Amino acid sequence: MRFHWLVAGVAAAALMAGCGTTTAVTAHPSFPPGNPIRGAKLFASTCEACHGPQAQGTPGLAPNLTARSLTTLYTAEWELSEFIYQYMPKTSPGSLTRQQASDMGAFLWGLNGKLGVATRNKLFTLVGLPIPPSSSPSTSSSSSSSSSSSSASSPPSSASPSVSTAVGQFLKVNAASKTVTLNLVASYTNANSGLNYDGYGNGKLVVTVPTGWTVDVTLSNKGPLPHSAAIVKGSTSTSPAFPGAGLPGSELTSGIAAGQSANFSFKAGSAGKYRIACLVVGHEALGMWDTFVVTSSGSPSIKA
Ligand code: HEC
Repeated sequence: MRFHWLVAGVAAAALMAGCGTTTAVTAHPSFPPGNPIRGAKLFASTCEACHGPQAQGTPGLAPNLTARSLTTLYTAEWELSEFIYQYMPKTSPGSLTRQQASDMGAFLWGLNGKLGVATRNKLFTLVGLPIPPSSSPSTSSSSSSSSSSSSASSPPSSASPSVSTAVGQFLKVNAASKTVTLNLVASYTNANSGLNYDGYGNGKLVVTVPTGWTVDVTLSNKGPLPHSAAIVKGSTSTSPAFPGAGLPGSELTSGIAAGQSANFSFKAGSAGKYRIACLVVGHEALGMWDTFVVTSSGSPSIKA
């Protein structure tokens, strides 16, 4: 298990640094001091897809990072930063700078009450949690976590992800032929750990097309992971809502590789609310879906 490796590494580092005393190690030469507020913002855009908006974990996906076990597993802030630096985000370990790992280490350390009550309260407010009574620094959030975090699809309400994209560029409208061309770029930005189309996930990009119009979709994959796209009805459907409304063949669920692109074309069917979803296992549940609306009349639009 990697925790054993980590503990062994920590012990070796402590020996090499000549500090095998009883004093707690709080700083480490190879990690710059972390800024917890900056860490909270980075966490929202890079980690919350798995660990949840309040770091409370997602059952079956990622552990609760506000559970008290976190501060017993890691006895110093830099050990936590080291783990994050080496292994997180799980989708692309090694992608963080030491400063970023240190900032998020400070955030999680602070969220667990290790940087004082004032910092913890500030972080609680930032991630949208009610401030617990000051007598019990780190217990209140852990008790609720095991039962209450089943809603991977509820929109995260915390710090807004990075820059807003000018989404008009992704939809071209040809009114004469009643055709729209929709460009979906998977992992266009790092928002939602890269699990986004055109920079948006969790339903935030809204594409509206009147019924009967032809929709030509190009999916290009900028991310490191394979991605697919399809128009589906509801959060659990794995087949296209209209004939042709998804990548063909096995690409529908296995996706296209990094750097590739693919097309599909379909006619918008009956009016209603649908999803543009990545059907590669787990991606939609992690927020890789946007909203597709078919209207009975009117004109096409795209907004976020
Ligand atoms: C794709 C999902 C995913 C993403 C994104 C992700 N994690 Fe994790 N994280 C996990 C899983 C799963 C584990 C459990 C250990 C393992 O499997 O490596 C974990 C473990 C951890 C742990 C150790 C918890 C413990 O109990 O020891 C920390 C700390 C952590 N993640 C922080 C982060 C940070 C910070 C980020 C953002 C940079 C992040 N994670 C992004 C899935 C994820």
